[in-house]
Amino acid sequence: MSAPRWLRRDGQPRLEYGADYNPEQWPREVWDDDVRAMREAGVTIVSLAIFSWAKLETAEGTYDFGWLDEAIDLLHANGISVDLATATASPPPWLATRHPEILPVDQHGNTVWPGGRQHWRPTSPIFREHALRLVRTMATRYANHPAVAAWHVSNELGCHNVYDYSDDAAAAFRTWLRARYATIDDLNEAWGAAFWSQWYGSFDEILPPRQAATHPNPTQQLDFKRFSSDALKDYLIAEREILREITPDIPVTTNFMVMGETRGMDYADWASEVDFIANDHYRLPSPQELDELSFSANLTGNLAGGRPWFLMEHSTSAVNWQPINLAKKPGELERDALTHVAHGADAVCFFQWRQSRAGAEKYHSAMVPHAGTDSELFRDVVALGATLRDLAPLAGTLRTPARAAILFDWTSWWAVEQDSHPTERLRYRREALDWYTAFLELGVRADVIPAGSAFDGYDVVVAPVLHVVPGELAARLEAFVTGGGHLVTTYFSGIVDENDHAWLGGYPGALRDLLGIRIEELGPLLDGDTAELDNGLTGTLWTDRIDVTGPDTAVLASYKTGDQAGRPAITRRTAGAGSAAYVSTRLGPAGLVPVLGDLLERAGVTSELPEDLRGRVELAVRGTTRFVINRTDEPVDLTSLGGAGRTLTARGVAVLRA
Ligand code: GAL
Repeated sequence: MSAPRWLRRDGQPRLEYGADYNPEQWPREVWDDDVRAMREAGVTIVSLAIFSWAKLETAEGTYDFGWLDEAIDLLHANGISVDLATATASPPPWLATRHPEILPVDQHGNTVWPGGRQHWRPTSPIFREHALRLVRTMATRYANHPAVAAWHVSNELGCHNVYDYSDDAAAAFRTWLRARYATIDDLNEAWGAAFWSQWYGSFDEILPPRQAATHPNPTQQLDFKRFSSDALKDYLIAEREILREITPDIPVTTNFMVMGETRGMDYADWASEVDFIANDHYRLPSPQELDELSFSANLTGNLAGGRPWFLMEHSTSAVNWQPINLAKKPGELERDALTHVAHGADAVCFFQWRQSRAGAEKYHSAMVPHAGTDSELFRDVVALGATLRDLAPLAGTLRTPARAAILFDWTSWWAVEQDSHPTERLRYRREALDWYTAFLELGVRADVIPAGSAFDGYDVVVAPVLHVVPGELAARLEAFVTGGGHLVTTYFSGIVDENDHAWLGGYPGALRDLLGIRIEELGPLLDGDTAELDNGLTGTLWTDRIDVTGPDTAVLASYKTGDQAGRPAITRRTAGAGSAAYVSTRLGPAGLVPVLGDLLERAGVTSELPEDLRGRVELAVRGTTRFVINRTDEPVDLTSLGGAGRTLTARGVAVLRA
């Protein structure tokens, strides 16, 4: 992959700072206050026109660009550049009224009506015609405006419209399937269609997995997820191609949502389609919320291939879309922003600049709150701007890879949480996050990397619930281990191939020989049931009836209670200098700490932090700069890190430059 293009800007390296800016929601006189306050805060860039279609194309083919011209000129005059949206994220009422056939249809056949946003089918030819005409018009109009530093395609593609079951989707799904499978019988084989009389006579008989009498075909479901991700990616490419044609020098991005349970878009597959990676992240209340932020930032940095990326949105304080929306505590605004920077962000942006007076997001925080600039929040915003200016020399520096990695795989995520499985309690991302938390607790850095990346540069690779293992991936994992690498995997891994067909001969299927174990029956646990291990830990969710198949496999822990009492719970096969370990039950973040600690020790991977700081701070490294992030609500003494007398405030971040 050639080096991605960053913002079209001249001058010194800088960390960009800004927000979504929606001037069309405010009277003209407010704009002057806006740019004054932006300058005070050190804002360098804003995203404009994201939801402006209705205000830009007021009726079909009738445009009003006057206000946008004026806003861009005003920003430019004040030294603020623009990440200009193509304005296609939310179609205007006239379009949905004239062409209701652009509206998505849910699984049950219900229309998704206008009234919110993103009510469009990625596959609708009519939507595309209108949206792409607007893209062309925007690109042509602003091609030469010096303020435009980047194009922002649509917005959070797939946030609300990833799964569409309409007739347009059905037609596009068939086209996609024709490209994937040479013949209908290849599809029948891949879908296991001999089952339940599902054998198709032609592609024309195929539908999206609409509401069915009972469990729809699992491979049909998995392919529909692949298709839906591809349909949005295809739409992204359609906009991008127009932008590249008209403005080849302006880089194109779109904001990903690497966060929480947002899963519909395979960003590992999308990453190479944009000129630079941009991500939106919002913290989700949970005991691991800070770890989740770090996990997402880390994964985003690895999607960007270790190169800098753009934090397009996060929040200064509360959001509006949780059941209860808490304000951030003192220190959290800066800590959250700098955690993203620590993992490679070269831009820190928020949703949004000025808190809305009206609309569904009026209780969502912004850089300028309802209280105005005379507020603690705005003073924190100004302070963060100063911090980012101070960190400007960091711009362009790469993340420093860790020695350990966690594999993250969208296909496994999709497949493992489908219906008609041994348990419906398993949550893929939670499993990966639990291992990440265990790394943080041990003070050992780990990269979160897509399963398709090269992992042979790592000493340890943890692949939690790597459910879908095609032959190619199995071979790479085997090569990793025989090359001296240390693999750790868990229950329900290696079970199926890319078509969601079980590997035969005993579980964990594709990884069975590598792990040196064999399982004849899977053992999910009922809610509330536990299995005690002889190392004092307690498992939930799952157990396995493991047989060790060779002398190279050591049993590191056994079950003491439950149906598998006396059988292995954690195993480790040595293969030359490498090893392959298997953890057969859910231990949770706390239980994983000693297990991971032991496996890392055997692999010779140690913490880079002094002992007193492990678990209390997170360490992230960009070149010669170390970020030390306080994971606690207490001050932390950094003396042991060579910072005699230096204390990290509660929720604080220390940036240590060599
Ligand atoms: C994002 C979206 C923004 C805003 C924000 C609120 O999903 O891109 O437009 O809605 O969430 O948190």
